[in-house]
Amino acid sequence: MVVHAVTTSPIYEFAADVRDGLTKRGQKELLSKYLYDDVGSALFEVISHLPEYGLTRADERLLRRHAEEIVERLPTPIAVAELGSGSGKKTRQILEALCRRQRTRYYPIEISPTALAMCQRELSDIDCVSIVGFEREYLDGLLEVTAQRREGQHLLVLFLGSTIGNFDRMAGLKFLNQVRRTLQSGDFLLLGTDLLKSHSQLIAAYDDQLGVTAAFNLNLLARINRELDADFDLSQFQHVAKINHDERSVEMHLRSMRPQRVHVPAAGIHVEFLEDETIWTESSHKYSPDEIFQMARSTGFRCEVQWIDDQWPFAENLLIAE
Ligand SMILES: C[S@@+](CC[C@H](N)C(=O)[O-])C[C@H]1O[C@@H](n2cnc3c(N)ncnc32)[C@H](O)[C@@H]1O
Repeated sequence: MVVHAVTTSPIYEFAADVRDGLTKRGQKELLSKYLYDDVGSALFEVISHLPEYGLTRADERLLRRHAEEIVERLPTPIAVAELGSGSGKKTRQILEALCRRQRTRYYPIEISPTALAMCQRELSDIDCVSIVGFEREYLDGLLEVTAQRREGQHLLVLFLGSTIGNFDRMAGLKFLNQVRRTLQSGDFLLLGTDLLKSHSQLIAAYDDQLGVTAAFNLNLLARINRELDADFDLSQFQHVAKINHDERSVEMHLRSMRPQRVHVPAAGIHVEFLEDETIWTESSHKYSPDEIFQMARSTGFRCEVQWIDDQWPFAENLLIAE
């Protein structure tokens, strides 16, 4: 695999975002993209195997069942780009189905070098696929991919795992609009979306019994200690998953278990926490099947087909750029 790497989040940018998020009036906040350092990416892989987290298995089942049909609907020749590929494990289904008819260029776009390395290990044995990885933010990477597009070549963009749900609803629409603007009409977007389900199922998925999701969340404070020289006492923060009914999302927070003061030297701040005050670290929005059709329509796409898993409410949606 050829990897085009730039440091996507240089330390000063990380420090500035941490300063902004922790000194915000009202709800303190850290951006969810920072959950994925080396440790975070490895922990996310474990989460995807947990019995409570049915999302990844549903996504994988749908791709396995429908990869042939998805590929039959795509024009030739076509290249594949993936936003936030993670380990790329599920992508094998699509790449192998495509390989039965053409050689394929695959562009994983990732901020996590660890995830990009896992992706290479996972997929490099597929003979007719050449992998060109971009260590970039989603849209920066996609712009670089489209700049490499050959005359007459179409593009399939994968955005799997319901990562779209990490954006709030308005930001998600804005993001899909931006993706659409980088594409040509007739290109495709395969969008994985987790659907609304019972609150108990959702809380279990984001607060598993083994505590892997808790470790994934707390690792963000450990990362700030490691990279910004902070003195967060991890034993004094607790992972919390809660439903936001209005937003139809599950939120992850880190709750301060006592009043405390934390120093983050590289961000130039001291932060005071009250007992029970939280840092909001991630949201995962959940959708209704119809909502995806509307989202597609309002962002310049049309949802051609939607497949819903029969074991875990999750939809795979094939969108065409109009
Ligand atoms: C929820 S995981 C999903 C991984 C994989 N697509 C899946 O379905 O299992 C999100 C992935 O997106 C990457 N990511 C998060 N924010 C990103 C950004 N702004 N630009 C590029 N990659 C990002 C993370 O490193 C992580 O690997």
